[in-house]
Amino acid sequence: MGFKGRDIIAITDFTPDELLRLFNVAKEMEKYSKSRIELLKDKILALAFFEPSTRTMFSFQTAMQRLGGSVIWFSRAEAISIAKGENLADTIRMLNSYANAIVIRHKYEGAAAFAAEVADVPVINAGDGSQHHPTQAMIDLYTIWREKGKLEGLNIGVLGDLRYGRAATSFIYATSMFKPRKLYLISPELLRIRNEVRDYLDSKGIDYVETTKLDEVIGELEVLYVTRVQKERFPDPAEYEKVKGSYRVDLKVLSNARDDLMILHPLPRVDEIALEVDQTKYAYYFKQASYGVPVRMALLALVMGGVE
Ligand code: NCD
Repeated sequence: MGFKGRDIIAITDFTPDELLRLFNVAKEMEKYSKSRIELLKDKILALAFFEPSTRTMFSFQTAMQRLGGSVIWFSRAEAISIAKGENLADTIRMLNSYANAIVIRHKYEGAAAFAAEVADVPVINAGDGSQHHPTQAMIDLYTIWREKGKLEGLNIGVLGDLRYGRAATSFIYATSMFKPRKLYLISPELLRIRNEVRDYLDSKGIDYVETTKLDEVIGELEVLYVTRVQKERFPDPAEYEKVKGSYRVDLKVLSNARDDLMILHPLPRVDEIALEVDQTKYAYYFKQASYGVPVRMALLALVMGGVE
């Protein structure tokens, strides 16, 4: 299946070959990510952000403008008629009639899939609750592909909130599509992966371990994907208090790291990576954030018909 006209709801909807096609287009787009290539002239992208965002929203905006298109957007539900009681379906119907594609971020799981049912134009999921964040996973894989030159056969660690984190969950799905050598899932007990993710890994025959101790596995890792505790998703604040600040990547733990370790983070960072790590050769997270523009340029161009 091609990308044109397609909804982007979950990373698992894509095949490895489709993702590699996207990455090849994204590499081309790097040439234009600080200038302009008029592939989506006259097209309008709607950005419907019902939850806070910095990188995702600005990089979608930047990407669309670098492609010669324009954006309409809101970033607070209070700013639009939702605050007057309008329901999500009506808001999406309206955006559908104005724009050529819709990007949506919402706190409810399934919100993007619901929007895709209401809209005729393509809907791109920019995060739905704890569930999926497919375009972040595309950027994460792209960073590994560009910087390591391969995606398969790697020892990959994912550290942090594996229970509520949609970026971590989508990354686990995504990396599992490219035959990791071994997956190390590192988290406090309370924040272990959800059963549906465990079932997915089992069904794919992935070799994985779940552990609470980063220092015991750091020496194995070629990639370490770090995420913050998703404070806003905890049903019980007391539960959050038990896990906050319970893990941290610093120079001490990195003294046992492999030379070729790459540290990724979808950002925002709170305190789970010490600032001292930013100066080390392991830190790739700002580079990763910068790849958000070419990857989203490629995705928009493919979905909206600017590239065949
Ligand atoms: C992530 C998100 O919103 O899920 N942020 C992002 O898009 N880069 C990660 C997070 O908020 O921790």
